[in-house]
Amino acid sequence: MATVISGKELSASMKAEMAEQVKAFPAKYGRVPHLVVVLVGDDPASVSYVTGKAKASAEVGIRNTTLRRSAEISEEELLALIDELNADDEVDGILVQLPLPRHIDEQKVIAAIRREKDVDGFHPLNVARLWLKEPCTLPCTPKGILRMLQRAGVEIAGKRAVVIGRSNIVGLPVAKLLLDANATVTIAHSRTQNLPSVTREADILVVAIGKPRFVTVDMVRPGAVVIDVGVNRDPQTGKLCGDVDYAAVEPIASVITPVPGGVGPMTIACLMENTIECFLKRQAK
Ligand code: GUN
Repeated sequence: MATVISGKELSASMKAEMAEQVKAFPAKYGRVPHLVVVLVGDDPASVSYVTGKAKASAEVGIRNTTLRRSAEISEEELLALIDELNADDEVDGILVQLPLPRHIDEQKVIAAIRREKDVDGFHPLNVARLWLKEPCTLPCTPKGILRMLQRAGVEIAGKRAVVIGRSNIVGLPVAKLLLDANATVTIAHSRTQNLPSVTREADILVVAIGKPRFVTVDMVRPGAVVIDVGVNRDPQTGKLCGDVDYAAVEPIASVITPVPGGVGPMTIACLMENTIECFLKRQAK
């Protein structure tokens, strides 16, 4: 039986602490942090993530503006909107929900956001600073994962960590954070040969590939720590499920995260933290 790390509980306590902190801001700074979320199109998963971000902002006392734009918006129009938000002194954080429609260059849009307002930590300068170990805004999901490991008292230094997935949003940055915490890190992906033999080496297994129940019990070393980043619809039941076959893996893992209620809420809590950090840095200037 594994220890189950509840991201729902941990994120609730983080949000309660932040709410206390934010309460003091109007007297101190004359206003509260302001996060602007831009949603292009109406992809149901993106709509649901954006709603979650607005709800968390309300809980913490952060001002949230969600700007919805049609999927037909041109790249030029979207870049003009980012420019406007960059110039607005009352906007502390800008988040453009990904993915964007194919006719828009995502990297161009991300790079257009002022680094100081990049609450996602996706701006090329923030990414560079992460890889150079310079102070930077950390991407929310990797940051949340490290928090969960800390909370569960998982020792990282010297351990073998395997990350399945090499995305800019999760796989690459979480591998870097684990490396900085002195794990020996392997990044596995769709072209990895004999994946089970690689994943069975893991003391810490982070799975971020977006395939329902992809990680089966034979791929996990007994006693491993298993972090499931997946948010998928079960093709049979239509319910949310992770990238890990939870029912089979939980009995042999030492620590595991559930889906839903695991990494997802931690991502949002870390977004709130990043928004407060960006706000405070701007106040200090
Ligand atoms: N789409 C999926 N995850 C994320 C995220 O963390 N940030 C943004 N902007 N879009 C996403």
